[in-house]
Amino acid sequence: MLKVKIKDIKFNSPIIAASGTYGYGDEFDSFVDLNKIGCIITKSITLEERKGNASPRIHESGSGMINSIGLANMGVKKFCKLKLDKLNKIKTKFIISIAGSKIQDYIDVVSEIEKCNGFHVGYEINISCPNVKKGGMEFGVNKEISEKLTSELRKLTSKLLIIKLSPNVTNIEEIGLFVQKGGADVISAVNTFSGLAIDYKTGKMMLSTTFGGVSGPPIKPLALAKVHKLYNNIKIPIFGMGGIINYKDIIEFLRVGSSMVQVGTINYRDPSSINSLYDNLKLYLDKNKITSVSKLIGDYNDS
Ligand SMILES: Cc1cc2nc3c(=O)[nH]c(=O)nc-3n(C[C@H](O)[C@H](O)[C@H](O)COP(=O)(O)O)c2cc1C
Repeated sequence: MLKVKIKDIKFNSPIIAASGTYGYGDEFDSFVDLNKIGCIITKSITLEERKGNASPRIHESGSGMINSIGLANMGVKKFCKLKLDKLNKIKTKFIISIAGSKIQDYIDVVSEIEKCNGFHVGYEINISCPNVKKGGMEFGVNKEISEKLTSELRKLTSKLLIIKLSPNVTNIEEIGLFVQKGGADVISAVNTFSGLAIDYKTGKMMLSTTFGGVSGPPIKPLALAKVHKLYNNIKIPIFGMGGIINYKDIIEFLRVGSSMVQVGTINYRDPSSINSLYDNLKLYLDKNKITSVSKLIGDYNDS
């Protein structure tokens, strides 16, 4: 009932743990039922190890959060050596997120991982990180570079190639079309929205970088709009996300056109909430005699 198929890959559930919010993905085995998670996406891996931005780099803001982690990660060599074997043993599917400052970085990281024996079902290419000085979002706001990067990476792998887009653009659907042309299998939408938090009493900026990425419930309507614009324009599946905290939010994302959904910020509150999302979504489908979650994809009514 909750199973979904993307290309030839079968997922147990349409719910994915979003990149950067579930560590490397191997840390949660003991206290979360991984069978109830469709897939885990690792934090973004770069060519070299990165310490990320100085703290403070996370701030609770309204009912969501704002972060400027800046892609802290161990780098691809250590990742392959220390994490890949562990990830190969987890009881669900996993996808490796990749980030870089230039096209060659992405190529080098994917090539390095392709040499190792990883059971990952795909790569999610982060071209949308708002929290780094070089690269990241620079790709995601330029349609030609986005297409070029996608087509270069397409040559390297037959695994799922997922491009994660930035919402900080005027026409996300235009970037989506170029990425589709470049050979992507899936589009993930969206990464965080550019934002800022300040203390009204002292005037102190709450993040060391001043600007950061906003996530969680406040961005849900904005994210739904981006996903729906993509759905109306592109043919490949969409992994929608932004502010999901309960099963109703998941259904909204499916109805506007997501084939699967990702959950991020909620994992910081409780990493096992992804399990209750599964249970409650299943209960809803049962009660309403919806035999397959796929029936909800794009099932909206605008009359
Ligand atoms: C603390 C934090 C770290 C994140 N790190 C990454 C990352 O490394 N790579 C990435 O593609 N997205 C990253 N994201 C973005 C999320 O994967 C997701 O796109 C975004 O938070 C929106 O979903 P949400 O509202 O459910 O959190 C991060 C988000 C948060 C809150």
